[in-house]
Amino acid sequence: MAWFRVLKYNTGMSKKIIVANWKMNPVGLKEAKVLFDSAKKIANKLSSIETVICPPFIYLTELGYSMSKLKIGAQDVSVFDFEGAHTGEVSAKMLKNLGVKYVIVGHSERRKLGETNETINKKIGVSLSLGLKVIFCIGEEKRDKDGKFAEFIETQISEGLKGLGNDLVKNLIIAYEPVWAISGNAKSKADNPEEAFKVSVLIRKILMEFVGNEMARKIPILYGGSVNSENAGKFLKDGQMDGLLVGSKSLDKEEFKKILEIANSIGR
Ligand code: PGA
Repeated sequence: MAWFRVLKYNTGMSKKIIVANWKMNPVGLKEAKVLFDSAKKIANKLSSIETVICPPFIYLTELGYSMSKLKIGAQDVSVFDFEGAHTGEVSAKMLKNLGVKYVIVGHSERRKLGETNETINKKIGVSLSLGLKVIFCIGEEKRDKDGKFAEFIETQISEGLKGLGNDLVKNLIIAYEPVWAISGNAKSKADNPEEAFKVSVLIRKILMEFVGNEMARKIPILYGGSVNSENAGKFLKDGQMDGLLVGSKSLDKEEFKKILEIANSIGR
């Protein structure tokens, strides 16, 4: 059976969500501020997008104080929901108290370090319970022709969202990031927007099984993986994505500016 059947689902979202994942960059606070200020200047002029900057934990306090349209997100969160003897961990409550609005959970680079669907499920639950918006990353390592990757994605979703009620899921955002498309090795290359669209339809169908049709329609689905100013518009328009998760190009002031402006021109 074909893994995909075209059905059109529309979140009816008014704003595209553009998330900058700085990963383990930049090297100092001074550089982080320059990068943040540049994004802030542009974002303050754009009203049709929601811009979220996810810097490393150590810059969150400083950048979080800056008043602007930019929202701050964390790149990860602890699985533990109570403060205590957990060396090196940062809790969802700490993030919330700092004014952080979003948290990325389940990024493939964290999965590579050993994070399991079970851990991700706990992190999503803790974060959503505290009112944080969760950017839940999913995506296959390989896109095979037989559609086995679809089963892989289904498992990531079903195990990641296990036991979470619709009252929590309303603050969920899915980031579809095919691992092979994420920049970082010579072979990585962005997905094509039409294919990404098909996968987003599949994701929404899977979500429907878990959270019901109405809720599933409202969950934004972002695309991530080698997004740049040339393909951003295509993913948002042809790919009908609700937003983008931008890695390396979010560290390039000019590129990120262009991506935000393109997204704003497409958002309503
Ligand atoms: P990339 O990273 O845009 O550099 O491919 C995206 C991500 O890993 O979130």
